[in-house]
Amino acid sequence: HKRVAVMISGRGSNLSALISATMAAGYPCRIVGVISDKPDAAGLKLAQDYGIETHVLDRRDYTSREAHEDAVHAALETVKPDIVCLAGYMRLLSGAFVGKWLGSMINIHPSLLPSFRGLDTHERVLAHQVRLHGCSVHFVTEGMDEGPLIAQAAVPVLPGDDAETLAARVLKAEHNLYPSALRLVAEGKVRITTTGKVLLDAFPEPDPDD
Ligand code: GAR
Repeated sequence: HKRVAVMISGRGSNLSALISATMAAGYPCRIVGVISDKPDAAGLKLAQDYGIETHVLDRRDYTSREAHEDAVHAALETVKPDIVCLAGYMRLLSGAFVGKWLGSMINIHPSLLPSFRGLDTHERVLAHQVRLHGCSVHFVTEGMDEGPLIAQAAVPVLPGDDAETLAARVLKAEHNLYPSALRLVAEGKVRITTTGKVLLDAFPEPDPDD
């Protein structure tokens, strides 16, 4: 089994979906640690209920982003994950930090990237009258919500939707998508190359001259 750490800031419904998926027979990962930057994140209690090791690194306890990230990195090193999943971790990570986990850190984002990076995606989707919305799992790189895509799921925007009904539809898709994307990474079926391209094992290596 691959060792997986999950980083959260809040509710932890994606964490919950990942925990459930990893408990199924034949799933290639185990969640061995949960890291939160918020001491009151509901996901912490959930992790503890499953006997998963938790670490809280509150940004307010550190004088700089660098010092906070060093502490997060140290916590990750005690967990020794093969893969790190960001699941509602609401803090931008520096290039220096992300570089240490390049190719083994993934994130879920509530939009069909590269559309609607950043916050309040559901509100912005409604404002643009987009008809198709969804979620994306991608490798984490320095830019916000910019890393190479691993998997996506689409949901319709329906007449009468508000941000809440739309968010709920997307969240349901997230809970299916994240475990399947994590499995692809854990089984080595998708990986990031040194040039930042994602390779899916279903496709041949791209020609370097292309
Ligand atoms: C999820 O919708 C996730 O995609 C989003 O936060 C929510 C966390 O919910 N992440 C981002 O917006 C990252 N920029 P959860 O705590 O219940 O999993």
